[in-house]
Amino acid sequence: MIDYRLSLSGSLLSLLLLAGCGDDGRAERLKKAGPHPSLETLMRVADADAGARTFGQCLACHTIGKGELDRAGPNLHAIMGKPVAGGSDRFGYTAALMRAGGHWDRATMDRWLASPQRFAPGTRMTFAGLPDPLARADVIAYLEREGGSR
Ligand code: HEC
Repeated sequence: MIDYRLSLSGSLLSLLLLAGCGDDGRAERLKKAGPHPSLETLMRVADADAGARTFGQCLACHTIGKGELDRAGPNLHAIMGKPVAGGSDRFGYTAALMRAGGHWDRATMDRWLASPQRFAPGTRMTFAGLPDPLARADVIAYLEREGGSR
């Protein structure tokens, strides 16, 4: 009987711990950012490790290690600061993305990740986008860490 209760509270505890890890301190970070945070404010509470986990959604099409091969999408090593459609010399970009112009600064990356199709109608990046602004900030922090502008 005692054993049973102990193991039950043990599994409840691990469930609670799992739930706590799963939200990446999100509520606390959003509270710190305040109401209607700008991208720069979100970047101050962004978490590159959380971004790395979200980047799992990108791995089907992108590598990020230095010198790694392109997949369906170009290698993204040190992409921040590079020209749009300029991440990989070997990759065949669409005219849609090449037409977009500019550089991958934070604001540009934020718009792209929110909706690739709205940013560059006709792009081959068939990814719906990340609707959550904090998730986008986290991914940007991760991209900056992986050889980027910081
Ligand atoms: C289904 C495949 C797919 C997924 C998933 C995907 N991408 Fe892409 N991505 C592409 C393709 C294809 C391109 C090239 C688009 C073009 O040429 O129109 C691209 C281009 C890019 C570029 C532009 C690179 C450059 O050299 O200018 C960035 C940045 C990027 N993706 C980031 C991401 C991130 C971050 C994620 C995850 C949140 C993601 N992508 C998910 C396929 C994908």
